[in-house]
Amino acid sequence: MARFRWIAAVAALIVSACTPLALERPAASATAVSAMQFKRGVNVLGYDPYWTDPSKARFQWRHLAEIKRAGFDHVRLVVFAFKFMDAQNRLDTKWLERLDAAVREAQAAGLGVIVDEHDFDTCAKDVPACRVKLPAFWRQIAPRYASAPDSIAFELLNEPHKALDPVWNDMLAELLGIVRQSNPTRTVVVGPTSWNSFHNLPTLRLPEGDRNLLVTFHYYDPFRFTHQGASWTDMVGLRGVTFGSEADLAQIRKDFDEVAAWARANNRPILLGEFGAYDKSGTPIEMRAAYANAVAREAELHGFGWDYWQFDSDFIVWDMQKNGWNEPILKALIP
Ligand code: BGC
Repeated sequence: MARFRWIAAVAALIVSACTPLALERPAASATAVSAMQFKRGVNVLGYDPYWTDPSKARFQWRHLAEIKRAGFDHVRLVVFAFKFMDAQNRLDTKWLERLDAAVREAQAAGLGVIVDEHDFDTCAKDVPACRVKLPAFWRQIAPRYASAPDSIAFELLNEPHKALDPVWNDMLAELLGIVRQSNPTRTVVVGPTSWNSFHNLPTLRLPEGDRNLLVTFHYYDPFRFTHQGASWTDMVGLRGVTFGSEADLAQIRKDFDEVAAWARANNRPILLGEFGAYDKSGTPIEMRAAYANAVAREAELHGFGWDYWQFDSDFIVWDMQKNGWNEPILKALIP
């Protein structure tokens, strides 16, 4: 049965690849070309001990060469910076040097880098504190990388949600203002509210004149499939949800058509900054690979860059124990 579903999923994908509608691409404006260099990426380092003690790091610089060799062109560098700030919100010097090293090593490996500030939960829990810390972060980071090549991008904040939602448009305007003082044309990644839900794209307010924005959304639908067994969700007790039916594939296409329509209407390039299916719930690897493949291919057909969630830790595409790629997932992402 599982095997049959897998074959059906592949067949449906081939059909979808031949559908002219799916080949439509959002028009990218000329000035957004640098944004379009972020095509195939992977989230790295977010939950690694590296940030507190590099001698305990799981992630090694050689992994960047592996990432490049496998065919990715960039990494989304996930940083939780708030806990490295002092009482005046100054970033710890050692932490900054660690960030510099990660950016430098990724560049040396030939990879672009999206520096993604990931204190999304802290921000949603305490908006007033976030409205001090996040501007303080960008006030320090933006000038530091002002002369970096344009293969370095900034992502203002991962997945704004809940209490942040009503103020997010104001905040992003403020943060963008801070970044633009020192980085007038750098690619800045910014996404809508409700955990970067594509449903909320129409509510995202962007400065019309700024054409160096890369608009991001995250996609974990069907959530019951991708997050079954995940302790941080209410799917923790759920098991056995399958993926791969024609309806599943059609839904992804329909959702991405909606994103592409928004992108065309607003003349903005799109980055799918996170997608994947949780690895510790007993979901068959073939099914998780089919999901990764379906989403990545559909993103590409719609002209979106993408970042798989994530290299290591959970949802993994790299197996630290085995010291090698999680081959089915890698092949699904980069056939
Ligand atoms: C969070 C992770 C989580 C993932 C999928 C990310 O944005 O940082 O903790 O595993 O989303 O839910």
